[in-house]
Formats: sequence, structure tokens, C-alpha cells
Amino acid sequence: SESVALPFTIEPTTAPTPADHRADLIANPAFGRVFSDHMAMVRYSEGRGWHDARITARKPFPIDPAAAVLHYGQEVFEGMKAYRLESGGIATFRPEENARRFQASAARMAMAALPQDIFMTAVDELVRIDRDWVPTGEGKSLYLRPFMIATEVFLGVKPASEYLFMVIACPVAGYFGSGCVSVWVSDAYTRAAPGGTGAAKCGGNYAASLIAQRDSQTHGCDQVLFLDSREQRYVEEMGGMNVMFLRDDNTLVTPPLTGTILPGITRDAILRLARDQGLTVEEAPVAIDEVFEGAATGRYREAFACGTAAVISPIGSFRRTQGEAVFGDGKTPGPVTLALKKTLTDIQAGRTNDPHGWVHMI
Ligand code: PLP
Ligand code: COI
Repeated sequence: SESVALPFTIEPTTAPTPADHRADLIANPAFGRVFSDHMAMVRYSEGRGWHDARITARKPFPIDPAAAVLHYGQEVFEGMKAYRLESGGIATFRPEENARRFQASAARMAMAALPQDIFMTAVDELVRIDRDWVPTGEGKSLYLRPFMIATEVFLGVKPASEYLFMVIACPVAGYFGSGCVSVWVSDAYTRAAPGGTGAAKCGGNYAASLIAQRDSQTHGCDQVLFLDSREQRYVEEMGGMNVMFLRDDNTLVTPPLTGTILPGITRDAILRLARDQGLTVEEAPVAIDEVFEGAATGRYREAFACGTAAVISPIGSFRRTQGEAVFGDGKTPGPVTLALKKTLTDIQAGRTNDPHGWVHMI
């Protein structure tokens, strides 16, 4: 049955990166450019189910030019991190949630359901064999990228009957530099419509966001914020992270999960930690005009982006065609943002107790 864990064949690389070179590579990694020595691979075909699970040397693999993913974009992925703990051990953060979301994304793209056991084992085994690639130091981790592509060789438009699941890993530091990020509110593009794929972590969502992200950079900003596609009135999320606001009544507010934004695992963790710390939490529509007015009047005090790659990144300002909303001096992170970031990263790094059982030891 597909719910049974698959045994992984472990084939260590015959050419591991020499230790001194690896140390150089992980000392100051640029996000997503340096990769560990191994990868996980599992195949699926209709009838046979999941099979051929292996951990092997990281290398290119052949793909047929008619593989469905290359034409119709049947692809889903996850983003998670392995952290080196104070104790010296290694842990991931809420990996079951990534396994669950991966299934939900796959379901939306009419792809095969990967049993959570296989997802978890693939990630754990890859981290185990590449444990020396997990960097030490504040803000550093081994970023893990599980993904699945449709490999069936067929140009008809239908859900594929064959898939390849893989996990690769890269040592990373922060996604943004330190300090505050500036955010462009896109009026030219939206990210997801009701009934669309906004809640799925599929490659196509990111392909569609790139032009808006580039637009944000031409406006001198670090990231793009998307508004709802119906009215262009309400905040949705950024290109690769969720967004939250702190109001002057100590309410943390973030857009609700209505199917057009990604249900972030960091988002969920922060909402729980904020409640633990006595903040009021609201998952409610946030009108962009209210943010711009509120930044000016002090009603909106802080804003931040959150996600696996971004962790908690304070937002200094939003810009749009009609003007700018600045929080404080636009450069100094707000105190509540910093406190939430400390609580979250202390749990992730094992510096404090883990009241919700989120830390998964490897
Ligand atoms: N929204 C988008 C579009 C993302 O790409 C991400 C990052 O994965 C998130 C939100 C945050 O999700 P998570 O906290 O699970 O990483
Ligand atoms: C992640 O945080 O894992 C993402 O997928 C976002 C991307 C900007 C790297």
C-alpha cells in the first residue's frame, strides 16, 4: 500500500566535496547557489505506485523532451530548513506540515499524492548524509527543496501518469540583507484569483510573479506585494512570503486563508506565538488604503514579511504609484517584529523550549 514507508537505497557519492572547500562554501552562502553533495529521488508510475527510492550523488539527470512538466508545468515544491542546534544536533521545523502542504499542492495540480512517510524519510535521509553541510551561525541553515515533476512522455493535456519526486539542499544565510525591506505594491499584476492555484506551492505561481518582482526592483524596492485580483483593494501576500501588520491596539493582523494565498507554516507559527505572548491576532482582510493611512497616523505601527526563506523580515516602507507608507524611520525594525523573530528563531535553533512540539530532531 502507498501509505507504507519505502526503503531508501543509500548510494553515497564517490567524489564528496573536500572538507576545506565545503567549509569555504558554507561560510557565506548566497541563497540557492551552493548545493550539497547528495539528492533524494523517488519515482511514481500509475499501477506501480511509488518505487525506486534512493539517496544518491547530486547530479543532472536525463529527461525526455516530451516530459509533461516541460510543456504544461505540472510541478509542485516545498521549502524548509535544517538547523544546527545549540546542542550540536540537527533539526527541521514542523516538517509534517510541509509534507501535508505538498500533498495539498499536488492535489490541486492533479498530481500523484506522495505519502507523508516518504516525504519525511527522503528529507531526513538527505539531511543525515549531508549533515556536514548544515552551517553553524545565526541565521544560517541548510535550505531543503523537495519538489515533484510530471515525467510522463506525452503531449496530450491531461494529468500525467508518471512523476519524479526529489529533494535537493543548499546551505543558506538570510534571504534579505539585514535591516528593513521595501515593498512595491503592484497595480499592474495580480498573483491569484479565486478558484485558481494561489494556495498551491506550484512553480507556475512563481513564474507568473517574476515580472511583478522585476517591476518592484525597477521602482527601487526589494519585493512585490500583490493585492486581491477582484478589487485590487486588499493585501494578499508577497512574491515568496506572507505579510503581517501590527496595529496600535496590539493586534497582529494578516490576510485570511481564502484560497488565494499560500498557507505559510511560518505564518501559522507566528500567529500561535503572538497569541502566547498576549497579542490579539486577527486573520482578516487588510485594505491597502488603510495601511497607507495607518502608517501616517500611527494606527499601523509595524509590518513584516514571513516565510521559510525570509524568516521574519521587517518592512520599512510600502510604495505605490500614489505614494509611500513608511513605518518609523523606514530603517529600524519595530520592537514587536523583533520580539516575534527572536522567539521563533530561538525555538528553531533549540535555544529555548519548544512548547508546541515543532522541532523535529534528525
Ligand atoms: N507565500 C509564498 C508565495 C511563499 O513562497 C512562501 C514561502 O514558502 C510563503 C508564503 C511562506 O510559507 P512558509 O512559511 O511555509 O515558508
Ligand atoms: C521559501 O521560503 O521556501 C520559498 O519558497 C520562498 C522563495 C522566495 C525562496
